Parts: sequence; structure tokens; C-alpha cells
Amino acid sequence: MSHRSKLEMRGISKSFGHVQALDKVDLTLEEGEVLGLIGDNGAGKSTLVKILSGVYQADEGKIYLNGEQIKIDEPNDAFAHGIRMVYQDLLLCGHIDVAGNIFLGRELSENNIGGFLKTLDQSEMVQKSKEFLQELGINLPSYKTQVRNLSGGQKQAVAISRVLWGDPDIVIMDEPVANLGVERKKEVLELILKLKDRSIGTIVIDHSFENIFTVADRVLVLREGERVGVRLIEETDPDELTKLMVGAEIADAVSNAVKSREANKGE
Ligand SMILES: Nc1ncnc2c1ncn2[C@@H]1O[C@H](COP(=O)(O)OP(=O)(O)OP(=O)(O)O)[C@@H](O)[C@H]1O
Ligand SMILES: [Mg+2]
Repeated sequence: MSHRSKLEMRGISKSFGHVQALDKVDLTLEEGEVLGLIGDNGAGKSTLVKILSGVYQADEGKIYLNGEQIKIDEPNDAFAHGIRMVYQDLLLCGHIDVAGNIFLGRELSENNIGGFLKTLDQSEMVQKSKEFLQELGINLPSYKTQVRNLSGGQKQAVAISRVLWGDPDIVIMDEPVANLGVERKKEVLELILKLKDRSIGTIVIDHSFENIFTVADRVLVLREGERVGVRLIEETDPDELTKLMVGAEIADAVSNAVKSREANKGE
């Protein structure tokens, strides 16, 4: 097993024109920890993880890995530091089979004659991907099927497996179970929990408290580009997190509206 990492982002700011998407945000991710990243629409969650994965560059701020400052100017830099972002089906090739997608760009070659002729060992790729996915608790109807024939949840499982195959230290997932049915959602959440066994640090963005309370060890709350709180999951509850996310006033107004609806139902 490779050496795992503690990640710190310090004082990260980012503007788009006059929109201040992030204002001096700090984030710490311990080795093997699942950190939930929550906040209302537009709070800056995706922007923060895109800075970490090299898609956007911060205007200000520093990133440290195991205490040493690192530069992430482009996706390749993040990759080199063992940081991987799971994109849903975006980076999967629909017309290629499951094994092909997992090995994409790093195929096993049966023989490499004069460095020219690379023959892919198809059966070995299929066998290896099958073993790997089963180790992760994923069962697919077929490993030779084209990925476009899989369901959304199965695609998501393949996308995560593809990232894990590269033995990452840090995995970022932006709404990994959005649009999944109940069963598939459960499977993907269980898969996220398995990353802890491999000491991989994971950042999960999710709008559902249920999902966050299922997988996260800690939760970081953003509100309008600012970090408004960090809580250990066992020391908080959805009410407190809602208040952090939208402010006490709005949270109370919503909760009162719900209560009066419930009271009216009883009449
Ligand atoms: N490429 C961009 N160009 C201009 N503005 C952007 C860009 N990316 C993000 N923003 C703005 O930055 C702010 C934060 O956006 P971001 O996507 O990070 O929010 P989010 O927390 O991920 O929201 P959601 O929950 O809706 O996905 C928003 O006001 C958004 O409009
Ligand atoms: Mg987002």
C-alpha cells in the first residue's frame, strides 16, 4: 500500500468577475477520512474541489500535502500528487467495455514487440477488472458489455473503480449519488466507506444530509464562499448544519412553515 496523505488548503480565494466564489477558505483532510462538503447552491463547493483538482486556479491561498506546500496549476499536477476527482460518466467511453474503461490509458500489453505492436491482453483485462470490482463489492452483469449499456449507478461504480485502480491517496466526489436509485445509492455509499479501509482521504459533496451522515467523519460548511463551520459528524445534527448553511433566520422560517403544515394536517 502506498504512503497516504494529509491535505490542507489554507486561505483559498477565488473570484469570477465580481462574484467572490471563495473567500479565504481553509480545509483539512486527514488520512483515511471522509470529509463532507456542504452548502447551499452557489456556496462554492465545486469551485473549491476544482481548485484542488487543478481545473481552476486559486487567486490566493496555499495547498499543503503532509506539511509541504505543493503547487496545483493544472490537472496533471493534482494527478501527480495522488489526487483524483471522480467524474460521473463524463470520462467514461461509452462504446468501450467495462474492462477497457478501467484500464483506459494504462492497458496491459501482452507483448510489446520492438515497442511498436501493443497487443492488449483482453481476457486478462477482463479478469483483473472483475477481481478488482468484486473486491470493492461491485457486481456487474457483464464486464464485456459496452459502458453505455450500464445503468447510471453501474456507470458511477465503474467511474469510481477507474479512479481507485490508479491507487490514489485522495479522492474527490462531487455529488456522487445524485440521480441514483435507492439500491445503487446504497452501494455507492458503501463503496465510499470502503475507501477508508484503504486509508484514502475522501471529500464528498452532497446535498443530502442522509448521505452525509452515512459516510462522513466530519463536515465542512460553506456559505456564500465562506467557511462557516466544521463539525465532527457525531457532534452535530441536520438542524445545526441547516442553520450554518442558510443562517438561523431562514432555517427557523423553514422549520416553522413545516411545523404549521403538520399542525394543519392534524385538523
Ligand atoms: N466558471 C465560472 N464562471 C463564472 N462564475 C462561476 C464559475 N464557476 C462557478 N461560478 C460561480 O461561483 C459561485 C460558486 O459556484 P459553485 O459551482 O462552486 O457552487 P456550488 O456550491 O458547487 O453549488 P451547487 O450546489 O449548485 O453545485 C456561484 O456563484 C457560481 O455562479
Ligand atoms: Mg456544485
